[in-house]
Amino acid sequence: MSDVNRKVLEEKAIAPPEGFRERALVGSLAEYERMYRWALEDAEGYWREQAKLLDWFEEPKEILEWELPHAKWFVGGKLNVSYNCLDRHLAKRGDKTAILWESEDGKATAISYHELHASVCRFANVLQSLGVKAGDPVAVYLPMIPELPVVLLACARIGAVHSVVFGGFSSVALADRIRDCKPKVVITADGGYRRGRIVPLKATTDQAIESCPSVQQVVVVRRTGEAIAWKDGRDIWFHELVARASENCPATAFDSEQPLYILYTSGTTGKPKGVQHTSAGYLLQCAWSTRLIFDLREEDVYWCTADIGWVTGHSYIVYGPLANGATVVMYEGAPDQPAKDRFWEIIEKHRVTILYTSPTAIRAFMAWGREWPDRHDLSSLRLLGSVGEPINPAAWKWYSEAIGKNRCPIVDTWWQTETGSILISPLPGATPAKPGSATKPLPGIAPRVVNQDGEPTKPGETGYLVIEKPWPSMLRTIYGDDERFRRDYWQRIPGVYFTGDAAQQDADGYFWVLGRVDDVIKVAGHRLSTMEIESALVSHKAVAEAAVVARPDEVKGEAVVAFVTLRSGEKPGNELHQQISDHVATTIGTIARPAEIHFAQALPKTRSGKIMRRLLRELAQKGNVTGDVTSLEDLSVIEHLARAKGMDEG
Ligand code: WTA
Repeated sequence: MSDVNRKVLEEKAIAPPEGFRERALVGSLAEYERMYRWALEDAEGYWREQAKLLDWFEEPKEILEWELPHAKWFVGGKLNVSYNCLDRHLAKRGDKTAILWESEDGKATAISYHELHASVCRFANVLQSLGVKAGDPVAVYLPMIPELPVVLLACARIGAVHSVVFGGFSSVALADRIRDCKPKVVITADGGYRRGRIVPLKATTDQAIESCPSVQQVVVVRRTGEAIAWKDGRDIWFHELVARASENCPATAFDSEQPLYILYTSGTTGKPKGVQHTSAGYLLQCAWSTRLIFDLREEDVYWCTADIGWVTGHSYIVYGPLANGATVVMYEGAPDQPAKDRFWEIIEKHRVTILYTSPTAIRAFMAWGREWPDRHDLSSLRLLGSVGEPINPAAWKWYSEAIGKNRCPIVDTWWQTETGSILISPLPGATPAKPGSATKPLPGIAPRVVNQDGEPTKPGETGYLVIEKPWPSMLRTIYGDDERFRRDYWQRIPGVYFTGDAAQQDADGYFWVLGRVDDVIKVAGHRLSTMEIESALVSHKAVAEAAVVARPDEVKGEAVVAFVTLRSGEKPGNELHQQISDHVATTIGTIARPAEIHFAQALPKTRSGKIMRRLLRELAQKGNVTGDVTSLEDLSVIEHLARAKGMDEG
């Protein structure tokens, strides 16, 4: 755990603002503690009661079947996820806005629950007409446009399994993910907008599927209207298909454990893993946590700024809020388009009441300065959230003051793609906050901080964050690789779920999540694997060997630092530097572009030939190496590296 060097600050707890607490769904710590105890002492009774948040076609017979590491939740129950997000709202709030979409060029479109329902039914019929059946995977590579949630809910309606790939990934990354789950149908757009420029999604898809024989049909949403290449027989326009489709598509009842989606995420190896989520437990815990943590009320205007390409968008733009019948703001573009006050302009324009964003965004806003939010009326806001990385106390405080005007509580929510929904977070009207801590577990969740033997650590001691009991929205397996599921999550410390995070608990029982203990890094909240970047680097013809480590970054949390050795005959220089950097961007995506590339004559290795990442990390973070180097094969390597690094920085 040597790489985790953030310090826990003993912050004084800050009580929920009084004006908020009075009206909150859960308004006292005692109430939270009562819920927590109930779920602890009678988990099945607790979840049976919470399951009433959903509409069931058949009630579950059993709450949990648990054979470590495989869980089945709400066994024997039947429901339809899209019915729960749409149909059941129609009588009571059919004309209410479900999605308030803001395009990057500033147009707002309000889509009511009636309209969303109709679009989803049409597209569900389209999918069926293309031969997509329950259980079939469907790949989705779309920008942040309303068609994206429509496609997801349409898959859910017919029991198809969506696999969304973030629109910032390149063709190689897209192809890897498509080849793993083998969909017949891919849904994309002609392009998307980012800072006014066009992201050529269709061209990237065309390139990707050259190596994906499973794909028979590409459905294309028209967003930009730019000319694109077209393959007759394979490519079909989204708008032409839906124009012909019927609006009538009854919701079928599916088993609680019907697969809902696969979402690829980075792990310790270079190969991304397909995290598999299923229906009832996932939907229930998303709906339940959205309501509790965001204190959701009928009149709220809720905005989660994530991209639906990541899990936060799945759970907290689509499934959680829509299952609650909320009004969800969805924004297409960048936070500085056309200017650095775009978020604050959107909040003022739509009277947003709840804002859920990332520490990276908050730190960027801090760097841009108070003048941007100060130009706008943010008085509609009543609650703020943070997710994706540890939030440093300075950013927390700025968020609270500059955006929340000290009126809005902040929920710092800890979770993962694998956990499906938030597991550790304050309840905003109940839990006193400590800036930098995600505070306490939600009812039903049993996190612990343990050493490598699984023994609990003392308060203030760093250890591994594990979860002791199963929870409804937990991943069920890694798609096509149950062995990896067992190995990565359940065998590291036998009997408990291994999160891959380091953490501490303080004397008040608050959790402080410090960062990853594996080769996963978080750049601007995007989850990347150092191994994936290394394989991209060595696939460049000039590169012989590569090692990637993270260093702290003021805004993005972490930045990618690459050390490479070149093949003989290759000369280091600015041009090659640029080429290699571009190569990573085209292989994975611009999010993985290294902040620094250092050319080295050799990489530090142990006598058995393993690259000593610890030393590289030290070098990347501090510029020199002080730790133990006794197992290093050739000490002069480090001297060369330190000098080379100093040189390209100077
Ligand atoms: C990190 C994102 C500290 C953590 C929902 C976790 C956090 C990884 C927090 C999962 C938080 C997420 N405080 N760290 N509030 N939220 N993380 O799968 O390291 O993209 O393991 O899911 O993000 O990233 P993922």
